[in-house]
Amino acid sequence: MEKQYIYIVQAQLEPSKCKIGKTNDLNRRLKEYNSITGKSKENKYQYLFSCEVKNMSEVENAVKEKFFHLREETSKEIYFYNTVLFRDYVNFLKTHKMFIKETFIKTEEKKVVTKIIKRTAPTLEDRGVTKRDILQKAQRVNNDEFYTRYEDVENELSLYPINIWKNKTVFCNCDDAVDDDERSTSAFSLYFIHHFQHLGLKKLICTHYSGVVDLFNQGTKGYVFTKTGYKELKEFPEGYDGSFEHPLSLKILKEETDIVCTNPPFSRASDYWKLTIGSGKKFLIISNITNVITKAFIPYFYNKKVWAGFTEVDWFLTPKRELTRAAGYWFTNFPINNRPKYKQLKIIPLKEIPEKNKKFDDGKILLVDNCYIPSDYKKPFAVSTRPILNGLLEKGYRLIEDKEYYPYKNGKKCFARVLVQKE
Ligand SMILES: C[S@@+](CC[C@H](N)C(=O)[O-])C[C@H]1O[C@@H](n2cnc3c(N)ncnc32)[C@H](O)[C@@H]1O
Repeated sequence: MEKQYIYIVQAQLEPSKCKIGKTNDLNRRLKEYNSITGKSKENKYQYLFSCEVKNMSEVENAVKEKFFHLREETSKEIYFYNTVLFRDYVNFLKTHKMFIKETFIKTEEKKVVTKIIKRTAPTLEDRGVTKRDILQKAQRVNNDEFYTRYEDVENELSLYPINIWKNKTVFCNCDDAVDDDERSTSAFSLYFIHHFQHLGLKKLICTHYSGVVDLFNQGTKGYVFTKTGYKELKEFPEGYDGSFEHPLSLKILKEETDIVCTNPPFSRASDYWKLTIGSGKKFLIISNITNVITKAFIPYFYNKKVWAGFTEVDWFLTPKRELTRAAGYWFTNFPINNRPKYKQLKIIPLKEIPEKNKKFDDGKILLVDNCYIPSDYKKPFAVSTRPILNGLLEKGYRLIEDKEYYPYKNGKKCFARVLVQKE
């Protein structure tokens, strides 16, 4: 049987449009587009995307139905095009039940921007800092200057019931830049701009931080971007650096915000958690996976002010847009219903836990590994991060202290854990 494809094609001189069609032969179809008589030579057609499907007519009709408002009146094959719409078309195709596999997708052209920034540098004395301050700050900045991938924001946020966003104001307050070029825009800002109507948001507020190193190269001034309906505004208040602790950011947090959503700098995570959780607002943030066993953060888990979200964040992007390994996890105070990761908890009687996954430390405290949890053990026992992230504290177990626990084995200090007990 002949293979069936759906494609998105575009003429070079018509960047605001694309055509979405079906074919059994992608090469022949492209040749047909490029041999249309009366067309200028420069106006070459090229594929933006193609995929193999099971029933191309069914998928083509589904596209027509879904995006009917984005089609040209006269020629039914022509759709409006911009990068946001393109993403929507591709997502729709890739999640259609007839989708088999992607056969081509246009990769983003690399834009090389050489920036010459002229500055008359003030002396250290002018700035009231020492060399040591600068070195320390640089070290901190190094750990903070990476940013979140769009798919990580999308993967997590799409798992919450859509009604949590209805009529709400979202505040992205850690260098969540907004620029005409999507590549210079924070994935958080972009996600909420793309989905503003769909989520039924009332308002989106994003701030850009003008710290030492400016991740999004948006200039040295902090700004506040607001989107209300279709109205978008960028303001540069006098003396505003965009810090989450700046009085203006705090005012927005207190007076306007319903939901805080961002990836805060790891070096400031402890202050950020204190401020955000202390504000009493709803939040969805990325932080270090080990926070659940780290002293500064355990009290929040102990007091049930925060718990793990759905997903892990294994990659960030560097300012050069290169992938770098991450140890991130989503944390939230939105209820998580029927957490899929419960399945990874192996709650069984102690005697059934394999020997290699249970041992006692020098203080006779039971240590369990690999997400094995004793169902019939009444005393406190120690676990590491995974069981907590997988929802153990929602399954009838509680943290018994608001600090970490360091087991000793044969007198040797082991990695931190937390002590839990069956309720
Ligand atoms: C992990 S990055 C994430 C950036 C962006 N939110 C994202 O998710 O792609 C943390 C950002 O926070 C910025 N930052 C550092 N200190 C800050 C502060 N006091 N207030 C706001 N942002 C800050 C850093 O410069 C860095 O750009």
